[in-house]
Amino acid sequence: MRQPIIAGNWKMHKSIAEALALVAELMEKLPNPLPAEIVLAPPFTALSAVRDILAGTEVALAGQNACQHAGGAFTGEISASMLKDAGCTFVILGHSERRQLFGEDDALIHQKIKTALEHGLKVIFCLGETLAMREQNRTAEVVRRQLEAGLQNLTAAQMENLVVAYEPVWAIGTGKTATPEQAGETHAFIRGWLERAFGEATGAATRILYGGSVNPKNCAALLAQKNIDGALVGGASLIADSFCAIIDSTHSSCSE
Ligand code: PGA
Repeated sequence: MRQPIIAGNWKMHKSIAEALALVAELMEKLPNPLPAEIVLAPPFTALSAVRDILAGTEVALAGQNACQHAGGAFTGEISASMLKDAGCTFVILGHSERRQLFGEDDALIHQKIKTALEHGLKVIFCLGETLAMREQNRTAEVVRRQLEAGLQNLTAAQMENLVVAYEPVWAIGTGKTATPEQAGETHAFIRGWLERAFGEATGAATRILYGGSVNPKNCAALLAQKNIDGALVGGASLIADSFCAIIDSTHSSCSE
C-alpha cells in the first residue's frame, strides 16, 4: 500500500509572517491523525521559520527548487544541503514553471535530481505535457521522454526517495483540471514505465501525484483513481480550509 502524499507548493507567495500565520491555521485545522503524508513548500525565505513551528509535528518541508551543484560560486542559487539545513526533507524539481519560464531542460533536471538524492533529500519530480502536445496526441511520448531523461541511471534504491508528480501544463493555475480518466490514463502509463525501468516492485511502490488546479471539489474523484497517490497543490494550498479539505478527501479516496 502506498501512503498518499498531499503537498502544497506555495510558489512565490507569502512573507515570513504570512507563512507563519498559514501554518498556525493549518495546525489547528489538520485532521488528527493525518490521513496522508503532508509536505509544505514555502518560499526559501520562510523555510527556517516554518521549520521551527513545525517542530514535533509530522508535517514535512520541501524546497521549491535546488541547484544542480553541491556548492560554490553560484550566485543566487540554493544547494540541496542548504535546504536540508533549513529543515527540508523534500525538494520539488522539474516543475513546469522552472522548465518553461527559467529554461530548465531535461538534462539539467536530471543533474538536479541526482545531486538532491546524493545529499539525502527526497525528490518530487514533476513532469507533464503542454496543451499543444496533448492536442497533437503526444502526451505519452513527452512524458516518456521526461521520465527517461530525468531518471536515467538511477537505482531502485534511489527511487525509494523519489515521488513523481504528473502535472499537465495546461492544468496548472488555469482552473482546468484533467478529468480523473485523463489523469488516470497518464498515471497508469507512468506506472508501467517505472515497472519496466526499475522492476515491478519499485514501479508498484513509487508514489505518483497529480497536480494542476486540484481543489476541494475535484480532489476526491482524482484521488479515487487507482494510480493517483496524492496531489501537488498550488493555489488551493494557500488557503488553510481548502488545503485541509483536500487532505480530508484522502481518507475516503486513496484505497490501494
Ligand atoms: P495549481 O498549481 O494547483 O495552482 O494549478 C499546481 C502546481 O503548480 O504544482
